[in-house]
Amino acid sequence: MGFPHKKIGSLNKAAAASSLATRYPPIAQVFHWVTAILVLIAFLLAPEESEQQVYDPSGDFGRQLHETLGLAVLGLSVLRVLWLVVGTRPEPPEVARWMGIASKGVQGVLYLLLFAVPLTAITGAWLEGHPLTLLGGATIAPMITPSHPAGELITEIHTWLGNAILWVAGIHAFAALVHHYFLKDGVLVSMLPRWFYRRR
Ligand code: HEM
Repeated sequence: MGFPHKKIGSLNKAAAASSLATRYPPIAQVFHWVTAILVLIAFLLAPEESEQQVYDPSGDFGRQLHETLGLAVLGLSVLRVLWLVVGTRPEPPEVARWMGIASKGVQGVLYLLLFAVPLTAITGAWLEGHPLTLLGGATIAPMITPSHPAGELITEIHTWLGNAILWVAGIHAFAALVHHYFLKDGVLVSMLPRWFYRRR
């Protein structure tokens, strides 16, 4: 027997019709996996040099790619939170109380980081007096008064949080594998498209 379907926001007909669904709706799965892939690529392509080198024209492409991916993560996260209000999800399985609390805690921290990582990057760059630079040459000029020392501090926080999100995502992925291989409760499968994984 799979999970019954749980409504996140207000009741609608689609939710009622899929009240016995065992998977997240396709749109929620797309949000989840595209976000995961973009965060991973943004992390792998993160500029590691000094401020002067990061903003040197020779580093334009790498920085623009990193900033574009990061802003896409922010945009997707906004859409994802809006979806949480109206969307549906399977009822979580019965687990030990501590496990339920830990799982909610990790997911909450991940949501916070999905906003904090890009927002600290934007604030730090603007306080340092740099525009956001996107692929294709588009730029977004600072919308706040520059203060270089504060910008350096916030940029440093961005690099810490950028590393932290990978650690927390790693814990989250490990927990999903524990559910799949040890608890065998279908939690991981609920986030996989039917064409990718069929329940036996
Ligand atoms: C979820 C998305 C993001 C992740 C995971 C991420 C991750 C990181 C990490 C780990 C670093 C530090 C690299 C190192 O020194 O080892 C970094 C640096 C940087 N990130 Fe991001 N970042 C994201 C989004 C953004 C966005 C939206 C911007 C746009 C302003 C941005 C701009 C920068 C810049 C300019 C640096 C270099 C900072 C410096 O040393 O001056 N990042 N990022």
